[in-house]
Amino acid sequence: MKTNALRLLILTFFCKVALGINSGHDYYVNIEMTWSEARNYCREHYTDLSSITNQDEDNAMSELSSGSDSGKEGIWIGLYEDANDTWKWSGGENTSFFNWAMQESTSVMKSCVVHKTSGWLTKNCEDVFPFFCFHKALLLVKENKTWEEALEHCRSREMDLVSLVSESDVVQVLEISKTAQTDNVWTSLRYLGDTWLWVDKVIDNQQSGTQNEMPQCPTWSHHCGALSLQVQHLDSWDCADRLNFICYCKGSSVSK
Ligand SMILES: *[C@@H]1O[C@H](CO)[C@@H](O)[C@H](O)[C@H]1NC(C)=O
Ligand SMILES: *[C@@H]1O[C@H](CO)[C@@H](O)[C@H](O)[C@H]1NC(C)=O
Ligand SMILES: *[C@@H]1O[C@H](CO)[C@@H](O)[C@H](O)[C@H]1NC(C)=O
Repeated sequence: MKTNALRLLILTFFCKVALGINSGHDYYVNIEMTWSEARNYCREHYTDLSSITNQDEDNAMSELSSGSDSGKEGIWIGLYEDANDTWKWSGGENTSFFNWAMQESTSVMKSCVVHKTSGWLTKNCEDVFPFFCFHKALLLVKENKTWEEALEHCRSREMDLVSLVSESDVVQVLEISKTAQTDNVWTSLRYLGDTWLWVDKVIDNQQSGTQNEMPQCPTWSHHCGALSLQVQHLDSWDCADRLNFICYCKGSSVSK
């Protein structure tokens, strides 16, 4: 239990965000890679390369890397030029904010973008720079896994299976689950010691509302909680079934 508590505190430190569809956390990754290598790295370990959609975010990126000397020449962000010479964000965000620095034009193909405090610069995508990754607070994982496998998957990414402690949590999870491949998605709800618990909240002893509708004596195999996307409520489900699931960055409520 002690190591579990420690793990939760560490996660909160890395991922201090409130639950929200577009909220999340940016990370400065101090490893030099080409743009596409950096994108692969972000997609494997987090969600994608970071996007910057307003001046506040641009300033926050400068602060994120301010303690490091290695990013002085620039740090990859998710902006690139597609085959039609249109600027796109790797994660699919809209492009309306740009913060270009003055740049001498050259004949070299330069279609990827680095962030610098003085403004953004286009660079050859094969050049190597450190980079910014973005970690979405809520992530629909379109893989069919058992409840245990799903929990393990989320935790390996410094996230956890989602808990639905308020109506607004349910609304947000339904929203991002629109493209799920299964009719139900796993949540962190588990029947343990004669009661339903959100597994990530056990140490808080902060159980609340939404799971009250759960059956009091589920059959032995149906000890895991899934959210039905059609009926839009929680149901006891066979833990060995394979479903899509939602991971999330631990919200600030955990850090109390
Ligand atoms: C480029 O534009 C054409 C025509 O508008 C479109 O069919 C194609 O999908 C675009 N390519 C990319 C990579 O967006
Ligand atoms: C992008 O902008 C278009 C038009 O302004 C809008 O319809 C669309 O919802 C936006 N997409 C996102 C992901 O914000
Ligand atoms: C997951 O299961 C659903 C429904 O059974 C199926 O349509 C989908 O293709 C499966 N996804 C993967 C990645 O196997």
